Amino acid sequence: MDEIRGRVAVVTGGGDGIGRGIAHALAAAGARVAVADIDAGAVERVAGEIGGEARAFQVDVSVAAEMVRLANEVDAALGPASILCNNAGVMLDGQLVGAPANDWEWVLRVNLMGVVHGVEAFVPGMRSAGNGGQIVNTGSMAGLAPRLGSRLGIYSASKAAVVSYSEMIRAELEGEGIGVSVLCPSTVNTRIWEADRNRPETLGPGRPVPRPERIAGAIDGFAVGPLVVRGIQENRPYIFTGDDVRRRIEERFARIEDDITRHEAG
Ligand SMILES: NC(=O)c1ccc[n+]([C@@H]2O[C@H](COP(=O)([O-])OP(=O)(O)OC[C@H]3O[C@@H](n4cnc5c(N)ncnc54)[C@H](O)[C@@H]3O)[C@@H](O)[C@H]2O)c1
Repeated sequence: MDEIRGRVAVVTGGGDGIGRGIAHALAAAGARVAVADIDAGAVERVAGEIGGEARAFQVDVSVAAEMVRLANEVDAALGPASILCNNAGVMLDGQLVGAPANDWEWVLRVNLMGVVHGVEAFVPGMRSAGNGGQIVNTGSMAGLAPRLGSRLGIYSASKAAVVSYSEMIRAELEGEGIGVSVLCPSTVNTRIWEADRNRPETLGPGRPVPRPERIAGAIDGFAVGPLVVRGIQENRPYIFTGDDVRRRIEERFARIEDDITRHEAG
């Protein structure tokens, strides 16, 4: 996407962390930003910080009808959106075997279906506006190269699905001038480790993830924003944030390659 200036951009999970950083960076690049989040107070704060034409919208990305409502509200307030950052996400702690069904339901509904709902709600408007578009789905390095031995199994599975979904939909929309990127952050210093704050009470008690030590040296959401803007401008398939990407991918690939070699040897 050559020009961001003047475009309408939607950022889910824009009330905090990485989404807040993306919203600020898009506004700095001249976009009119719709900051969307389940936390109504947080979006008001972030839209206020940005000022100008930024607007706040409360939405639960896990509910398809709410994302359709968001698309209509953004269209009415700012005009048709041509940049969509499906960024809202949650994380929880625990082993995979014996994990409560509600844990799977919450994480998949927010992390995976939230992305799907965003695409379904906003792509029709991008198509009819005929002005191209860019979608950035927030995956994770956990989706490309999971930390084996961590207790982030459900989260990693959800993010692997976001990566595959993004790769496939990029190919599907390519001929229509709508680009798709998957943002794969390494560790970013945010409140994702307090994601439990947004777990619906109906799903029972949550399992917060202990804050890892590596967080101390990590970048914050504001450092991620400009990387996403550049990824949008260059329509990059993958947007990375960390210096551990090559090592993690190579470690994973080495495991796979080992079995390719055995397979080929017969
Ligand atoms: N922080 C990291 O190290 C890291 C690494 C890789 C990927 N990510 C991903 O980045 C994205 C942003 O996370 P973050 O680290 O900024 O965390 P964060 O907790 O600071 O921000 C997440 C935001 O999403 C919102 N949210 C949660 N559930 C929602 C829902 N159902 N509907 C709408 N909004 C909802 C929260 O209110 C919050 O404002 C997530 O998808 C996360 O998985 C984070």
